[in-house]
Amino acid sequence: MYSEKVMDHFNNPRNMGEIENPSGVGTVGNAKCGDIMRMYLDIDGQGVIQDVKFKTFGCGAAVATSSMATELVKGKTVQEALAVTNKAVMEALDGLPPVKVHCSLLAEEAIHAALWDYAQKNGIVIEGLKKPVADIGEKEE
Ligand code: FES
Repeated sequence: MYSEKVMDHFNNPRNMGEIENPSGVGTVGNAKCGDIMRMYLDIDGQGVIQDVKFKTFGCGAAVATSSMATELVKGKTVQEALAVTNKAVMEALDGLPPVKVHCSLLAEEAIHAALWDYAQKNGIVIEGLKKPVADIGEKEE
C-alpha cells in the first residue's frame, strides 16, 4: 500500500523538530482527520532557506510528507519553495494512496503558512503566495 520511500520517511523522518526564533512558522490542520502540521523556516538575507524543521501530530503519511517536504525546500529560495506542490511531494515519495492525498496537501499548506509568516514579519510580498486557508495559527497550544 505504501511505497518504500513513504515507509522510509515515516520510520526515519528528516528534519523533525523545531527552530528557535524561526524566520517563519506555519501551523495548519485538517478539520476532517484532525491532523496538525507545523513547519519552521530559517531564511537568510538572500531569501534562501537555510534550515527547515517540522512537527506533525498526525498520521504516518502526514509524517512522511512533512519529512519529504522539508527535504525539497531546504537550500531553496523562497520562490522555489513556493513552487513545491503537494504533487511534487507525492511524486518524490513514489506516490500515496488516494485516501492519503490530503496529507500531502497539508505539507504544501504548512510550507505556505510558514512562508506567509516570514513575509508578514518582514513586510514583503512573495509573488503568488496567498494566505493558506488551513492556517490555524498557534491556537492549539
Ligand atoms: Fe489526515 Fe493524514 S489522515 S493528514
